[in-house]
Amino acid sequence: MSTKILMVCLGNICRSPLAEGILASKLPKDKFIVDSAGTGSWHIGHAPDERSIAVAKKNQIQISHQKGRQFSTTDFDNFDYIYVMDNSNYTNVIALAQNQQQSDKVKLILNELFPDENVDVPDPYFGLTNGFEIVYNMLDEVCAVIAKKLVEKHL
Ligand code: 4NP
Repeated sequence: MSTKILMVCLGNICRSPLAEGILASKLPKDKFIVDSAGTGSWHIGHAPDERSIAVAKKNQIQISHQKGRQFSTTDFDNFDYIYVMDNSNYTNVIALAQNQQQSDKVKLILNELFPDENVDVPDPYFGLTNGFEIVYNMLDEVCAVIAKKLVEKHL
């Protein structure tokens, strides 16, 4: 059975689609499933933001086929690991958890690089274009750590 990882942000068009594409590129496809979702509903069915598509493509990662969807309580049972991009995503997802086992699956993604520091992946949506490069580089670095851990634990 595959190990399933869900990446979560607010809109599911900027950060979590990148996190999904980057982590998936570092894991064997037959053993791991990586998906993403947003806590908000604005971008259900939408492709990722053009700027996320572009920075991914520059790094040989294709994310343009992805479709936005909203995080749902069923995701707590369907996924083994839930990584959120920032502290507000964490609050929003934890508020939907129905028990400790569900809450325990939710981790702030950059805590894998900076344990217990609760650092946000900044939302690049309203910022400068190089915000997407910065976010890409952060996610690439943390996904390398996550992929290594997952492979050690589940392969
Ligand atoms: P994301 O960025 O959470 O990284 O996908 C956002 C994209 C859109 C919106 C908010 C955040 N929005 O409000 O539409």
